[in-house]
Amino acid sequence: MRDAMMRAPLGDDVLGDEPSVAELEAKVAATLGFEAALYVPSGTMSNQLAIRSVCEPGDEIVAHKDSHIIHYETGAPAALSGCMIWPLETPAGSAGGIFDAAQLAPAIRHRDIHAPRSRMLVLENTHNRGGGTVWPLDRFRAACAEGKRLGLHVHLDGARLMNAAVALGVAAKEFTAHVDTCSICFSKGLGAPVGSALCGPRELIVRARRFRKMFGGGMRQSGLLAAACSYALDHHVARLADDHANAKRLARGLAGISSLQLQVAPDATPSNMVFFYVPNAAALCERLKEKGVLMIPMDPTRVRAVTHLDVTGSDIDRAIAVVAEAVRA
Ligand SMILES: Cc1ncc(COP(=O)(O)O)c(C=O)c1O
Repeated sequence: MRDAMMRAPLGDDVLGDEPSVAELEAKVAATLGFEAALYVPSGTMSNQLAIRSVCEPGDEIVAHKDSHIIHYETGAPAALSGCMIWPLETPAGSAGGIFDAAQLAPAIRHRDIHAPRSRMLVLENTHNRGGGTVWPLDRFRAACAEGKRLGLHVHLDGARLMNAAVALGVAAKEFTAHVDTCSICFSKGLGAPVGSALCGPRELIVRARRFRKMFGGGMRQSGLLAAACSYALDHHVARLADDHANAKRLARGLAGISSLQLQVAPDATPSNMVFFYVPNAAALCERLKEKGVLMIPMDPTRVRAVTHLDVTGSDIDRAIAVVAEAVRA
């Protein structure tokens, strides 16, 4: 990846002549089946550009209550686009972050002068706070179709879309064919240092390019970074299966530690994330950090562990041993 970055021909993307960014944008648009794509610094900017390009102040977005756009984007839908969000619950018996098509019609506002305008549906796949959840294809398709029937623009927060595709053994297009816009991150499991892309219809991407400049995301010789993302798309997608196997390995090991409780049974670990409950997540993560094992306290009593291309099978075994020792301490 570093060699690819060093070899990348460079230009100025703000002036519109950055060959390595143009190559990445064409590659990601073709891979996901969209007319156009826009390279941006982060997944947050990508989601927010979709919202800003589609919605007006006073509009409402329908999304799962645990969505990244609600919890981790600093209130940007309100701050940057003046939007409200209608939060959907997880139906009984479903994995975290998933909802049913039938929940959408009751979430739509009446069209009169009192109500916000229901404008956009956001699905997240895989779903981060939900537990690295992979949307089943049939439920995903049904939710997208219902969102469109109800007049909503359907946006996919596909920060980890490739993890979802690899987990199901399908092409990413199986998901993206059903949405209007999609954000994908290269800087997570795909292992590039920086960047995400917003994909969609050409006209919408032209509009998003203008807002990217407004939000301060216009970058100049960004081909250096885009080359890493192109490399990641070419070389790091199929190997996500290794991360998923490592996550299961971690979950099986953690399941043997009696004082902690896994969010899902080890063999049901959906992708590259393992969530477990302990009495004090922050204190445990501090103890793990001292031993060189990094996990995140996602909630006061819930820890998130993520596997990725820098984590090997023997790292997993060491992590299990370190957690076992830390929970005893
Ligand atoms: C589902 C999801 N969407 C968007 C983002 C935002 O990405 P970034 O950190 O690049 O802004 C993340 C980051 O973890 C995420 O998990």
